[in-house]
Amino acid sequence: MSATHEQPHAMGHPTFKQYALIAIILFLITIVEFLLIYDKAGIDDRLGVSKIPLLIVLSAVKFAIVIMFYMHLKFEARLLSGIFLAGLGLAFAAGIALIFLFVGFGAGPREFAQANAVPYAGHEVEAAQEPETTAPAGPVVVQIGVVGDTLAFDADHFTASAGSEVVLTFNNGSGVNQHNWVLVQAGTKDDVAAAGLAAGADNGWIPQGDARVLAQTSLLDPGGSEEIRFTLEAGTYQFVCTFPGHNLSMFGDFEVTP
Ligand code: CU
Repeated sequence: MSATHEQPHAMGHPTFKQYALIAIILFLITIVEFLLIYDKAGIDDRLGVSKIPLLIVLSAVKFAIVIMFYMHLKFEARLLSGIFLAGLGLAFAAGIALIFLFVGFGAGPREFAQANAVPYAGHEVEAAQEPETTAPAGPVVVQIGVVGDTLAFDADHFTASAGSEVVLTFNNGSGVNQHNWVLVQAGTKDDVAAAGLAAGADNGWIPQGDARVLAQTSLLDPGGSEEIRFTLEAGTYQFVCTFPGHNLSMFGDFEVTP
């Protein structure tokens, strides 16, 4: 309870005893609600659907008690209660209107909605363009570039499905820097870059015959571009530029889903 609540209240205030009594009443109502739906209590079957209005009334009583006493509306100016209840009433009205509009209270769509529904014209076109699901998925075409002359790729995450051929085009749009794009086993991008440094510029800063390297472009001069193709098993991989120092900021994840 906050300090302001401790001060004398112009509009009166429930005592602790009253609060406790209210809590007990709420608890008792909850027990009754529970017995209504608990199948082992034996009431459940006999009531059938009629337990729904009963439950609604019980929860409405609980709600009223909570907003009157715990939320204090009983002790506030009537205007405040009016504002609260008006919003609540509006929300209920909107909900009920929507239920009537779309489904009614029956199980199926209402006749009006059914009769006036406009079929979405795009379905047939889309169905025609969908690849056959039984055939192997086509190649996954992805593009990656760099952010100006900074040491950053313009993407840090790719996804593809296992077994699909990936056709990746790397565009080195930098006006000054050389870059490559190297796909490596997860968690190895810095080690591979270090090995690339040892391999030297003649190898495009990429270690040769390294099992951690799964796919690679060559070292591209500024403005250069290269397309590579590869297919992966499910797993998460990394990509990196192995030009000395670039691995610290030029890397990302390549996720292959089963
Ligand atoms: Cu680079």
